[in-house]
Parts: sequence; C-alpha cells; structure tokens
Amino acid sequence: MKIIKVKDYEELSARAAEIVAELVQRKEDACLGLATGGTPLGMYRKLIEKHRLGEISFKNVSTFNLDEYCELEKTHPQSYHHYMRTNFFNHVDIEMDKVHLPEGDTADHEAAAQRYNQLLKEARIDLQVLGIGSNGHIGFNEPGTPFSQETFVVRLAEKTRNDNKRFFNSLEEVPEHAITMGINNILQAEAILLLASGKSKAEAIHKLIKGGMTEEFPASALKNHKNVTVIIDEEAASLL
Ligand code: GLP
Repeated sequence: MKIIKVKDYEELSARAAEIVAELVQRKEDACLGLATGGTPLGMYRKLIEKHRLGEISFKNVSTFNLDEYCELEKTHPQSYHHYMRTNFFNHVDIEMDKVHLPEGDTADHEAAAQRYNQLLKEARIDLQVLGIGSNGHIGFNEPGTPFSQETFVVRLAEKTRNDNKRFFNSLEEVPEHAITMGINNILQAEAILLLASGKSKAEAIHKLIKGGMTEEFPASALKNHKNVTVIIDEEAASLL
C-alpha cells in the first residue's frame, strides 16, 4: 500500500481529486468506483471545480457506487442516489445512463443485489474510491464478511448505524439493511484509493497499516491488492 500523509482534510480532498482527475484526463472513458459518506465530499467539490475550470470532462466516464441503503426512495435526502446527484452528478457533464448504484428501493433486494453484481462483472473499474468505517468496514462490508463476498444485502452493524445517525433525525430512521458491493468486487478494481480523515478514523488506520489480514477487519483485505493508495490526514495518522 502506498501511504500519502497530508496535513488536513483540505489537502486530502485536493490530492484525491488530483488522482481522479489525472485518470480521467488520461482515459476519457474511465470507469470510476465511487463512495459516499462525509469523507469524499471535499474530493467531489474539487472535481466540480476542475470541471468548471474546463480541466476535466466526465462525458464519457461511467461510474459504479459502492452501496445504497434499502428501503429509502431515491429522492430521500439520505439515499446515496440523492447524495450522488446533489454532491456530484448534477454539477458535472456526466451522462446519467452511465451512472450505476444499487437499487435499494425495489421490493426484491436480493434480486437487485444480483443484478448489480452482474453489471459489475461486465464492467472494469479503473479506480475505486473508498472511505473506511470506524469498525474497518469498506462499502458496507461489516466485520466478519468473507473476503470472497460479492454484492449482497447486508444487515448493518449497530456501530455503523450509530456512526451514520448524524445524517438522520434519529437512530430509528437509519435503515437496517443496505445493498453493497462485496469485498471481492472491490478487489477487482484496477486501482484503489482509500481516504481517511479525522481522529475517529485513527484506530482503524492503525489497524489497517500495522495489523494483519483478518475478516474481522474488512479493510485489511486491501493488503491483497497490488495497487492501493491510502491518503490520511494528521489526525487519522495520529496513532501510527
Ligand atoms: C458509510 C459508507 C462507507 C463509508 C463509511 C465512512 O457507512 N457506506 O462507504 O466509507 O461509512 O463514512 P464517513 O466518510 O462519513 O466517515
């Protein structure tokens, strides 16, 4: 793993956006794996700026998001469909028929997961952007998920629901299930870019960098991948 240590969130966002922009400039029909959560918001803002300055176009880019909550309508303010539109897609020239997220709002979640898995098998993700959960989850692959896991319907860990309740009015409103790319899907990406910022990620980053490989810590699966870049700020690196 290549580790890039930066000062703060601002610098982390700028470095991440540079890496994505460099790929899109080099390969105009790049396929991006995208993440949600608080961490990549700054990266999306910087990519929008670069697009406005005419430095990059997403016209031929296709995207696959990591995950989506079950039971939330696409228009729900906390659905990842809504997140991606408002924080990124609506502000760049991407064509929406090249954008993919799991369909968490359909009646049959298992079938939706299978369909997404099939789409992923037919695609080739050039760069997968990842955040990391405080319990080491990537996407919504919670501790204990086999590294061989493909796209599936996951019951969210209480830790994750608690971490994410800040985006909702109460814990009860946080969905109990989600559809997520599995760890094996994530590992198929050509390159992986993991971002971590702030003290709340320091323990997870310590385990990722200093610890061994174990299914109890999902992000450790990345140690198996040949092209992983991790960008961390000073606070996330504080236990190293
Ligand atoms: C969420 C997402 C992950 C994300 C992680 C960290 O639950 N499913 O893809 O990386 O948790 O989120 P944050 O960046 O808000 O800390």
